[in-house]
Amino acid sequence: MLKLCVAGATGRMGQAIIAEATTKGHQITGATEAPNNPAVGKSLRDFGFNSDIKISADIKKAMGDADVFISFTTPAADLINIPIATSFGKRIILGTTGFTAEQNKQIIATMSDKVPAVFSPNYSIGVNILFKLAEQLNAFPQNYDFSINEIHHIDKKDAPSGTAKKLSEIISSVRGYTKTISGREGISPRQPQELEVTTFRAGGIAGIHDLIVAGPNEMLRIEHTAFNRNVFAQGAVYAAEWLSHQATPKIYSMADVLGLN
Ligand SMILES: NC(=O)c1ccc[n+]([C@@H]2O[C@H](COP(=O)([O-])OP(=O)(O)OC[C@H]3O[C@@H](n4cnc5c(N)ncnc54)[C@H](O)[C@@H]3O)[C@@H](O)[C@H]2O)c1
Repeated sequence: MLKLCVAGATGRMGQAIIAEATTKGHQITGATEAPNNPAVGKSLRDFGFNSDIKISADIKKAMGDADVFISFTTPAADLINIPIATSFGKRIILGTTGFTAEQNKQIIATMSDKVPAVFSPNYSIGVNILFKLAEQLNAFPQNYDFSINEIHHIDKKDAPSGTAKKLSEIISSVRGYTKTISGREGISPRQPQELEVTTFRAGGIAGIHDLIVAGPNEMLRIEHTAFNRNVFAQGAVYAAEWLSHQATPKIYSMADVLGLN
């Protein structure tokens, strides 16, 4: 049984993580929210959980004796919260996406070599196997084109998704693309150095990532569909369990957690 502190406790992912963690017999020992969130001061019981833990805006108090700090919040929140978690020596599961390149460097520098942490734009098993498959795709001849499309619910703030960004980094390094473009309009033929990464926002879709590889006479299409957020919550809690056995302070990937490396 792990003691967990969940940041963004009343967010979509926070709620899914608390549900998954309690189902698996872990204890929520801390729950945090943004200071202006109306949930602050309420208890997890008010949100349908069998727990009297109060939702707090005070991360230091909430972290208490938690074994792992799990955060799916916002880049602005994590730029403040993650340094606090590392200074308390907490293991970290970080799922927030939408960091700028500069913020990403900052957050990585804050965690690396300080505490055992997992930082992944996608905690699902299928997507992490897709990342591994993408590394093998250099076998396609140079005249095969790669395109990525991602679709998420209308409340998702960042675009393209962290998963699409990671997939495009892998494809770019394997295929030598030097530019990503996010759409076409007017006269805009594809240039050889371009990787296409497009984004749709629609309804309540939990997450679809589609990788298309097309040559002159054939197409390979690999699609990952998350049916709901539970897949990310399951992965995050599984990663927390795995992380609790890691002693070396470093940033691990989901590929490490799943034994894919
Ligand atoms: N890595 C993955 O597998 C994965 C999967 C789904 C979503 N995400 C990412 O997780 C993040 C959250 O997604 P969501 O759909 O739950 O969003 P959400 O908006 O429903 O929840 C975010 C929560 O964080 C809270 N928050 C904001 N500032 C805070 C602070 N300072 N301290 C504590 N809590 C704070 C908000 O009030 C909100 O309740 C996004 O970046 C999203 O892209 C990652």
